[in-house]
Amino acid sequence: MREWKEFNPSGSKRIIVTKELPGDRWLEILAEADCRVEICTSTDILSAGEIEEAIGDRCDGAIGQLTEEWGHGLFAALKAAGGKVYSNYAVGYNNVDVDAATKQGIPVGNTPGVLTETTAEMAVALSFAAARRVVEADGFMRGGQFRGWLPTLFLGELLWRKTVGVIGAGRIGAAYARMMVEGHKMNLIYYDLYRNRVLEDYIAAYGKFMRSQGEEPVSCTRARSVEELLREADLVSLHPVLDETTHHLINAERLALMKENAILVNSSRGPVIDETALVAHCQRHPTFRVGLDVYEDEPDAKPGLDELDNVVMVPHIASATIWTREGMATLAASNVAGILMGYPVWQEKDISLFLRNNPPKAAPSIVNAKELGIPFYTL
Ligand code: DGY
Repeated sequence: MREWKEFNPSGSKRIIVTKELPGDRWLEILAEADCRVEICTSTDILSAGEIEEAIGDRCDGAIGQLTEEWGHGLFAALKAAGGKVYSNYAVGYNNVDVDAATKQGIPVGNTPGVLTETTAEMAVALSFAAARRVVEADGFMRGGQFRGWLPTLFLGELLWRKTVGVIGAGRIGAAYARMMVEGHKMNLIYYDLYRNRVLEDYIAAYGKFMRSQGEEPVSCTRARSVEELLREADLVSLHPVLDETTHHLINAERLALMKENAILVNSSRGPVIDETALVAHCQRHPTFRVGLDVYEDEPDAKPGLDELDNVVMVPHIASATIWTREGMATLAASNVAGILMGYPVWQEKDISLFLRNNPPKAAPSIVNAKELGIPFYTL
């Protein structure tokens, strides 16, 4: 039996939250919407059975985690308990069967907009940690192996003026691309089903500025295929959503197309890479380097991955800054409160208004709003 704690016990609506979330603002939002909030204090991942038990026979809404499978069973249980809304505490919602929620008439929220730069910064951190062998060198130093400067000690890769490949040029991919292009004057090659004109125009304008300074401008190319990008890029960062088209997008055949000393970074979802193939590739190519935030079978890593010096691993923390995680909590609570209050759904790009005082009277992000016929907010 898990421990749960309660906030605002006099609230007339009952909301369950499957993990403790940072900050206080999200609790205030739910209390202002007359909600009693029950929060699971365990750090263990809850099973569907445990969540169903927590939903019980009366529950108006739920905030769940990307580590939980929210499918037909849970949405049916939520509906039967009088549930009117679910929000994922994440921007990604590959753990949610949105069709199943829609069939039950339950709006599904997510938390976009507040993870963009934070996640992109972690992808940058992993890029350099891998390229410059930071973790290996740290272990060497702590292990007392440093005997003095050497011309050949921990030679890595220079990223300046090389080519960065971005797969998935949505918000996070585009933010990462700009950081690498502007900060390190890398040429960009990107692959996305949709053309990102804003990104292309931004880089063209930056190139113009560089030319005006007498510098060689950076370039931006939209690859015709993933293969073209993998062949060209010195550094590849993955930012697609996970669905059946991107599952094992990076497999043994595609790894073999990459440069022998390329760097591969993944801060999207683990199953985008065939991790077993990645282990084999890294074993055969010690100068191929990898930075991972996410894993195919989280929380586990495939056998052999953690033995590789050419792989840097962090435990799915790309969005883990205080500002972002508090912002995610605010957005998830605002999704739940907004739907319970009968508000329309926000559709403007700027979601930051929800982090300020006097936020719009809207639910910030409901992914099945259209399917459910929930009206959109008009300015
Ligand atoms: C998300 O929100 O989808 C992220 O993976 C959390 O870090």
